[in-house]
Amino acid sequence: MSDVGVQESLLKSVAEQVAAEAAELVRAAWAAMRAGGEVRVDTKSADTDVVTAVDRESEDLVRARLARLRPGEPVLGEEGGGSAAAGGVTWVVDPIDGTVNFLYGLPSFAVSVAAQIDGVSVAGAVVEPVSGRRWTAARGEGAWLDGQRLSASAPQRLDLSLVATGFAYDAGRRVRQGRLVGELVSRVRDIRRNGAASLELCAVGAGWLDAYVEHGLHRWDWAAGALVASEAGATVLLPGSAPDLGDDVTYAASPTIAAQLRETLAECGAASV
Ligand code: IPD
Repeated sequence: MSDVGVQESLLKSVAEQVAAEAAELVRAAWAAMRAGGEVRVDTKSADTDVVTAVDRESEDLVRARLARLRPGEPVLGEEGGGSAAAGGVTWVVDPIDGTVNFLYGLPSFAVSVAAQIDGVSVAGAVVEPVSGRRWTAARGEGAWLDGQRLSASAPQRLDLSLVATGFAYDAGRRVRQGRLVGELVSRVRDIRRNGAASLELCAVGAGWLDAYVEHGLHRWDWAAGALVASEAGATVLLPGSAPDLGDDVTYAASPTIAAQLRETLAECGAASV
């Protein structure tokens, strides 16, 4: 392993350790909530965009651990904000991705922690509190689920491919996103909307989904999951890199259908979502 690879593997271990500790906090809070405990809930950009006290506690824990393990490195988090460092490592944190699932008792949510350098993910971990699954990746080194190497699927036909998506919290944007899904659904095997972008990106890496596309994600939603998908061999496009699909699209697809899906999405009007 090169010196760079050693650095990225070390950052991956830190991301995994910190995400796993926060996931344990989130798991305990979820169990207490399901046993009848109350969780404080506030709203953010829309009445449907929620943040719980557990999101904040999880992010506080991640920030405290990173301050000890990686002193001086800035953190950009969904709840606490922050900004990226030029040149050095910035930690990008979603303390609960899939907060709505968390709140309803659906087990599909995760803690996502990534290390980025100049806006590029170099290491990351996505840890699911309920199942305990740990998804990890380091740039150039591969992606893993619980230590098992991942590789994306290889479907031969777009019309037999399973494609996931998600919706923004803004109502007007949802209408346009719904139209795009309406155009796409007859051209693929089926559509999934699971409610946690990081996990959908990881699922593309595992071959559990053939592709995932969503407009309007925040950096913390994709920073770790997109690295898992790309290190598993998926074709990944990040916000700002695919104007034919829209300025803020996040896209991950198995390489065997990636070009055809991209063309199809463009035909379906993805650029105006
Ligand atoms: C949300 C989830 C959801 C996606 C939304 C995200 P949050 O993140 O990842 O699947 O469709 O766009 O905002 O709010 O649960 O951290």
